Amino acid sequence: MTYQVLSPDNAHARALDVFANIEGIQLTAGSFKRDQVLSMLAETDAIILRSATTVDAELLNAAPKLKVIARAGVGVDNVDLDVATARGIIVMNTPDGNTIATAEHTFGLMLALARHIPQAYGSMQQGKWERKSFMGVELRGKTLGIVGFGRIGRAVAKRALAFEMTVVAYDPYIPADVAADLGVELVDLDTLYSRADFIALHSLVTDETRYMVNAESIAKMKAGVRIVNAARGLLINDDDLAAAIKSGYVAGAAVDVYAEEPPPDNHPLVGLAGVIHTPHLAASTDDAQISVSVEAAQLVVDALLKGEYKNVVNPAALTIG
Ligand code: MLT
Repeated sequence: MTYQVLSPDNAHARALDVFANIEGIQLTAGSFKRDQVLSMLAETDAIILRSATTVDAELLNAAPKLKVIARAGVGVDNVDLDVATARGIIVMNTPDGNTIATAEHTFGLMLALARHIPQAYGSMQQGKWERKSFMGVELRGKTLGIVGFGRIGRAVAKRALAFEMTVVAYDPYIPADVAADLGVELVDLDTLYSRADFIALHSLVTDETRYMVNAESIAKMKAGVRIVNAARGLLINDDDLAAAIKSGYVAGAAVDVYAEEPPPDNHPLVGLAGVIHTPHLAASTDDAQISVSVEAAQLVVDALLKGEYKNVVNPAALTIG
């Protein structure tokens, strides 16, 4: 029997190498549009997924033989987990491989925000020399509030401590001693808001965290706070943050992720003075993409050929057969 594996989102070439000498699996890989993906699913046993393809109910229903989805990355918000689970389709992710890339990007955004680096670059590109317009602030001595103290949050904390920042974190699922061992104080959210000069979001989107940055929470933050989001766009109420930036209460924001990607032309934050952007690049390093793609490929091989599953995000699917 030969299993059919589809990799529709341009997985790193190294991931494709994983299948080179494996018998019993046929790989179809490329960068496919949704219509193409839909037309390829009838015989597909497994999908290796990045973030471009949304595996919703329509896609799942077009894939009657689908057994496994391996996400080359952390977030599985582009998979309809309810439908997958009900069908017994096992969804796995690769939570480790892009931790450092994401932490470094967050840090890059924080420095760029503090020193207006993108705006200064843009100004020089226009032939200007505007030293006075781009007065910045140092990170040293400032307090960073990290919301979500998982792998990425902790990696950001280590870097912030090296920059002589004070770090506080909020995460209801992490014991205080894990944070204390790293030199980080675990605090409740209101305390974090009241103390942080910079806030970095590293939470998943849940009912508790969706739109957590909103008019009400911003009112609890320090005036002049700067906010960095390289996690998920849905953590922020964009209209409320835009209003707070326009009023000057929030000094700036750095945004890598958007509720809808790419963001629509009328997105309230895109193009707003005081806001800097990247197009969901946090995990986009060669190192990270090799790591998560190869791991996702191996997850598929082990699942299909050995019945071994790792990093399962919907364990209930294992009981449906
Ligand atoms: C992730 O969830 O792993 C990151 O946001 C990167 C990505 O979506 O590709």
